[in-house]
Amino acid sequence: MEQTAKIVVDGKTFELPIITGSDGEKAIDISRLRQETGIVTLDPGFANTASCRSGITFVDGEKGILRYRGIPVEQLAEHSRFVETAYLLINGDLPTKKELERFSVLLNDHSLVHEDMRTFFEHFPRWAHPMGILSSMVNALRAFYPEIPERTEEEEINITVTRLLSKVRTMAAISYKIFKGHKVIYPIQDLPYAANFLNMMFDSPVRRYEIDPDFVKALNVFWILHADHEQNCSTAAVRLVGSARVNLYAAISAGICALWGPLHGGANQAVVEMLGQIHKNGGDMAPFIARAKDKDDPFRLMGFGHRIYKTYDPRARIMKKACHKVLGKLTQHDPLLDIAKGLEELALKDQYFVDRNLYPNVDFYSGVLLRAIGIPLNMFTVMFAIGRLPGWISQWKESIDDSDWKLHRPRQIYIGANERDYVPVEKRG
Ligand code: ACO
Repeated sequence: MEQTAKIVVDGKTFELPIITGSDGEKAIDISRLRQETGIVTLDPGFANTASCRSGITFVDGEKGILRYRGIPVEQLAEHSRFVETAYLLINGDLPTKKELERFSVLLNDHSLVHEDMRTFFEHFPRWAHPMGILSSMVNALRAFYPEIPERTEEEEINITVTRLLSKVRTMAAISYKIFKGHKVIYPIQDLPYAANFLNMMFDSPVRRYEIDPDFVKALNVFWILHADHEQNCSTAAVRLVGSARVNLYAAISAGICALWGPLHGGANQAVVEMLGQIHKNGGDMAPFIARAKDKDDPFRLMGFGHRIYKTYDPRARIMKKACHKVLGKLTQHDPLLDIAKGLEELALKDQYFVDRNLYPNVDFYSGVLLRAIGIPLNMFTVMFAIGRLPGWISQWKESIDDSDWKLHRPRQIYIGANERDYVPVEKRG
């Protein structure tokens, strides 16, 4: 029998259906609430609202579970590569050997960007943040690769998806080379996705870049851990902008803008800046903990806390392990890793953080990992964006195929002035 919830408004009872997700999650379906009762719900930040049904990613924030298409992220980080995980997210299943080879070939075939786009890259100010450059350039891709009427919608989507996955990686490396004033390095046909990216970033005409397989593995892990996270801020932005039926480039560009924020993807850069500041101040962490707890101080412990996880973020655990592996192999000592571990230990013992279930999130260790493989600070959030692309794309695809699809248009509770008359300027006091 269908479960229902009852709501009483002005003495009248209304029944609302309760729907159950595949892992037993329950939700009250309020889609007809206004129609039947005349009232809406108020939920700032959508903290309590499921905006869609989705079959892509499962997160249990209380138990610390993350699965893509049913597969635990721990298994993917251990055994998969980013390209394979991207295929899984976008197509719903792991590819066969042949499908994976075909997908990899397609990614290589689409990896170049139109040469005229270089003009744009070259004219951004040198100090421009790469996230701003990336979002603009992704939007610009549409002008260079418009739809072709002879293609079916499905063909058009497939080609756009491949272009985005491949070219965003190339564009990220180009923006870094131009920022440095260095020669742009083109993708190489026989290099896999992550190795190709590292080569485009660090190879130079005067010093050949030696691709380290451990760096390649670490980068694959980093990207897999970021590949999707259900209805987070940037994904919600992609779905919202996409709900107006804009093209996929524009929707992804919106996602990149949302990700840029320090409370979201920008946190990985903010964490390393914070750890660096602690290091500069002689390594004393206590004042930073005190500031984070002070309600009169807007400072927050970056890389701590999560809207969904009220326990240790499973991605942070894998990331911490990956950091140790890469730094251990390099026998390179990074004082920021020691500070991060010390800070984590202090915070996890502090009643403020305990009471609020604040644990390290994915960003807490990711910056230390990126530093170890040579990625500069201002590229950290771009690295996250490359990783999140398969998630954005799969969520966008799912939303346009959804039979419940609607233009996203939240309601509000108006709390402004009541009706009043316009006063001519000469009569205003
Ligand atoms: N440092 C100090 N206090 C914190 C922190 C933090 N990092 N995070 C939350 N709190 C406190 C809040 O002040 C609040 O305290 P109160 O109840 O006494 O008012 C309480 O914990 C709940 O915080 P909210 O902001 O309501 O929690 P929300 O779920 O909205 O916030 C967020 C989640 C935005 C991620 C928050 O934890 C934060 O700002 N963290 C730091 C930034 C960060 O690391 N962002 C990356 C998130 S992961 C990602 O996007 C990939």
